[in-house]
Amino acid sequence: METPDGAPILPKAELHLHIEGTLEPELILELAARNGKVLPHPTLAGLRAQYQFTDLQSFLDLYYANMAVLVTEADFADMTRAYLGRAREAGVRHAEVMFDPQAHLARGIPLTTAVAGISSVLADSFDEFGITTGLIAAFLRDRPEDDALDVLGQLLAMDAPIIGIGLDSAEVGNPPSKFIRLFDRARDAGLRLVAHAGEEGPPSYVWDTLDLLGAERIDHGIRCVEDSRLVERLATGQVPLTVCPLSNVRLRAVDTLAAHPLPQMLASGLNVSINSDDPAYFGGYAGANFAALVDEFGFDADTLERLAGNSIRSSFARDARKEELL
Ligand code: HPA
Ligand code: ZN
Repeated sequence: METPDGAPILPKAELHLHIEGTLEPELILELAARNGKVLPHPTLAGLRAQYQFTDLQSFLDLYYANMAVLVTEADFADMTRAYLGRAREAGVRHAEVMFDPQAHLARGIPLTTAVAGISSVLADSFDEFGITTGLIAAFLRDRPEDDALDVLGQLLAMDAPIIGIGLDSAEVGNPPSKFIRLFDRARDAGLRLVAHAGEEGPPSYVWDTLDLLGAERIDHGIRCVEDSRLVERLATGQVPLTVCPLSNVRLRAVDTLAAHPLPQMLASGLNVSINSDDPAYFGGYAGANFAALVDEFGFDADTLERLAGNSIRSSFARDARKEELL
């Protein structure tokens, strides 16, 4: 099977996906109408015109503003269902989905609303979409660690069905060292550990994410190529890096896709997978990311298989599920 762009559809896992970043403009307007919310840009054309970013922060401003339309459990459920439908079309058969609990709490939305809305759909994802799933609570690194610890405590107390924690939002100026106690607490609770690092932040943030936080996977990690010792460390340990090519282009982490370090990362033997990050904002889902890579770099079938295989091997899926997908 092929996508309309000619890239083969391989079974794959999506490991770096913010569910709030799957809110398509059409759904934003629909939910705004449903909840009586007046948006600053109330038309589709007006809203779409906002999707031009100069850096991570310029995207985050819109991403957090658009979340205002998520009010009820049904809103969170509808968003999650829409993502799974699109992911299925792109060949995703296992998805580890991040959400931002603090962003919803800060808007006065109870944690139970967000968690129940998302997890009710994830619970049926295999039966409905043939996709196994896991939920990851991502903490906002531009907020104090005590706030994150408080919210993690609430998630654990309510027995939220999360498999792990992550770290996202504004990276530069919010180093991994700020969150050592959070990661220790999550580890003690038996949770898996991932974190964004080396998207806009320097290679030292990737080192510290491994050494101080004990993260098992690095989200993005593309700036590792600036430090050959770090590349060696990541290659030797086969540390998974969840790379998001279209996101990096749209947020200007790289000048163009042609200038993306992915080919160099592959040549260095790094364990990279391809992910869509915030697909409603960055120009497409996993399929569009793969298609853009084929178009730009002419990746052959072996490379595409390696990327898809890495995503499955680097997932937190059960071994039997991984074997089924490989
Ligand atoms: N980077 C950091 N934080 C985020 C992102 C991202 O790409 N998407 C949503 N929160
Ligand atoms: Zn991300």
